[in-house]
Amino acid sequence: MCGIVGYIGDAKKTKQILLEGLLRLEYRGYDSSGIAVLNKSVTNIVKAKGKIAELQKKIGKEKLEGQLGIGHTRWATHGIASEVNAHPHTSGTTSVVHNGIIENYVELKSELKQKGFKFISDTDSEILAHLVESGLENGKSFTESARGAFKKVKGACAVVVITEREPEKLIVLRNFSPVVVGLGENENYIASDIPAIIPYTNRIVYLEDGDMAIVEKNEVTITDLNGTEVKREEVLVSSDPASFEKGGFKHFMLKEIYEQPRSALDTLRGKISGDFSSIELAGINTKQLNKIKKIITLGCGTSYHSCLIGKLLIENLSRIPVEVSIASEFRYSNPIIDQDTLVIVVSQSGETADTSEALLEAKRLGAKTLAITNVFNSKIARESDQVIYTRAGTEIGVASTKAFTTQLLVFYILSNILGKAKGRISEEDISSNVKSLVGVPLLIEKILKLDDQIKALAQKYNNFNNFIFLGRGLNFPIALEGALKLKEISYIHAEGYAAGEMKHGPIALVDENVPVLFIAPKNGANFTKIIGNLREIKARNGLVIFLTTEKGADEYKEYIDDLIEIPNCDYNISPIATIVPLQLFAYHIARIKGTDIDQPRNLAKVVTVE
Ligand code: G6P
Repeated sequence: MCGIVGYIGDAKKTKQILLEGLLRLEYRGYDSSGIAVLNKSVTNIVKAKGKIAELQKKIGKEKLEGQLGIGHTRWATHGIASEVNAHPHTSGTTSVVHNGIIENYVELKSELKQKGFKFISDTDSEILAHLVESGLENGKSFTESARGAFKKVKGACAVVVITEREPEKLIVLRNFSPVVVGLGENENYIASDIPAIIPYTNRIVYLEDGDMAIVEKNEVTITDLNGTEVKREEVLVSSDPASFEKGGFKHFMLKEIYEQPRSALDTLRGKISGDFSSIELAGINTKQLNKIKKIITLGCGTSYHSCLIGKLLIENLSRIPVEVSIASEFRYSNPIIDQDTLVIVVSQSGETADTSEALLEAKRLGAKTLAITNVFNSKIARESDQVIYTRAGTEIGVASTKAFTTQLLVFYILSNILGKAKGRISEEDISSNVKSLVGVPLLIEKILKLDDQIKALAQKYNNFNNFIFLGRGLNFPIALEGALKLKEISYIHAEGYAAGEMKHGPIALVDENVPVLFIAPKNGANFTKIIGNLREIKARNGLVIFLTTEKGADEYKEYIDDLIEIPNCDYNISPIATIVPLQLFAYHIARIKGTDIDQPRNLAKVVTVE
């Protein structure tokens, strides 16, 4: 959720590194922010409600020099978005930034109150500042005080703490919330996500759960919570700095929509043989996959929608039964799992708490696990038995686009592998499927050429308050995803339904004020049925936007108000194609409405609380 950044080194660089880091992390949360800079042994804190730009305005020309500092951008969990609830939180000489939730905060708060500590915010995080300060007041060292505090709190946490009493170190805790240390020369960095610090260093140390790092200018010591030193390897990470620039686009979301041909190509690279005859997944143990009797796919938000499509693809191509679960429900659903069950967890970020907790539960129950994720070495990647990386590149826009289409590609590839492992599809089928796969980048490029047409549609439809998206089969989840995109960034109420289910209730909503958007590639098994549904809507004066493949609407134009026609493609690939116009539609409506497209209200890109 919240973003954290920390720095120790050159006093003149601290302010800039913290602010730039926070700007790069703003997608994690953006309701308030703040920094604390320790200058010799004096702490200067500036906080502001709203975006980082507000913090920058407030800091203005202030020098804010200091040998070390911490910064935070918040997504509210405890307490409203306000300056007083913004981090860093302080107690006496101690300042702290925190990401996560302290589950036992009620009892800790009352203990601390009894000791005379005064709380000024509504946050659970303030507890950490008081706990550390309490240790220091009792004569303990900073390290001992921090360790004592960290041992007391329960729940997922990433914390960075500083104190005026020992102004030459920052202390970091990782407990189920991501945080890394970046190594430099005479300087070191801390960040909840690598993008915050990648312009300064690519030498990264990933902390493990239960690690506490003492970060000094020339030294980083990592221990467990008993004080025993632990070794964590330095990893050299690569990252494309262009991912963090808008590259001439007005928003990251539009840039990322347009990057889809490239991200599809990158995702396919290395997964298809040089002669285009077969599919390979390096590092994936196909022998193990052969034994699988049941699969469960799970994820949240957009990743959940790709799981729904993954189920249909896997079942079609391999006949292995697949269940789909919303990650936040899975953990508490008493799932039926044994060692022949494969649980596939899907997460762009690889850090979503609901998904990573579901993964741990699956492992506990003895399932084999496979992650599909976009972030190298992320928590979910590290916890899973096997990983397939999507190669979408860093996704910054909160509304997921290119990560989704690359997840679908991976599912299609995996379905072929499973189909082969189970002897359900032939080499010829695979080589024909490979042809469809390699055609995807060009297919998306062609669909992007419809942008002007979609923009015009957005002009026509932006004043409606309710939308219905309808699809069948592989395109029912696309109806859900199209509706989600519109909700997320345009704040327009939109529902996705299975087209056939419409007549069982939701059709009561339909009149000339509720546009209905059909997603209906002509070669879909249920195409004639969806035409029946189209007629039902028109009979009730519904406004119809019909998204289909070439000539799909030729005989039905009288029922259609607006047509979006995309090139013909293999039905199994169609969700990758049909989602693109819907991403553009949501984008252009949001643009007309003037919403904050890359950072829509109330949302965060990476949700690390359950
Ligand atoms: C958040 C984001 C969504 C995303 C979901 C799952 O809610 O706002 O866009 O789909 O998390 O994220 P993940 O990183 O696990 O795919």
